[in-house]
Amino acid sequence: MKIIVTESYEEMSKKTADIIEEELLANDNIVLGLATGSTPIGTYNELIRRHLEGILDFSNAKSFNLDEYIGLSAEDVNSYNYFMKDKLFDHINLPNENAHVPDGLTDDPENYGDSYDKLIKESGGIDLQILGIGANGHIAFNEPAEELRYTTGPVVLTEQTIEDNSRFFESKDLVPTSAVTMGMGSIMKAKRILLLANGLGKADAIAQLLNSKKITTFLPASLLLLHSDATLICDKEAFSQVNIEDMAGELA
Ligand code: GLP
Repeated sequence: MKIIVTESYEEMSKKTADIIEEELLANDNIVLGLATGSTPIGTYNELIRRHLEGILDFSNAKSFNLDEYIGLSAEDVNSYNYFMKDKLFDHINLPNENAHVPDGLTDDPENYGDSYDKLIKESGGIDLQILGIGANGHIAFNEPAEELRYTTGPVVLTEQTIEDNSRFFESKDLVPTSAVTMGMGSIMKAKRILLLANGLGKADAIAQLLNSKKITTFLPASLLLLHSDATLICDKEAFSQVNIEDMAGELA
């Protein structure tokens, strides 16, 4: 895993947008894997700015989002469908039909997940996957557990994730307890992966990822260490507990 440590959240967001820009300019048919959460918002703002300045054209691009809460409609302000429209899609020229976010209202999430993976495959696979990380090391909604999903489909959320994500909801009881998520296999098939992390709240997960020199399903992000083109871009706070001597990675 390559590692880029930045001075600030802004710099992390700009560096990430620089890589997306470089890849999009080289391939206007790019298939992007997109994430929700507060982490990528700065990156999305950068992409919007660069689009409005005429630098970035998304008209031939496609995107696939990682996950959605089960039970929330696309119109629900807490849904990831809503988040993506609000934070990115409404402000760039990615055609609606090219922007895919899992449907939280599917009545058969297992089969739905299979068709989502099929659609990704038919689109040529994800060229560049953006990921955040949960405080517990989850990626997308693949929560620490003895076994992780390989394909896309339903998962049950952990208490910690429900607690962490309750800040976006009016109350904790309104946070859905399950989600449809891209599985670890679906994520690992991306040609290139950028894992973003910022702030002290992620320092423990990043330290575990880089210091333990182990791969474990109890830290789902650790599977990314096996990917041939994964880069961690994090600010110095998220990196603050890493013991550089023990680090299983290379600093860029
Ligand atoms: C959610 C999402 C993840 C995201 C994580 C971190 O649980 N399913 O994809 O990485 O939150 O969120 P934040 O960026 O707000 O810390």
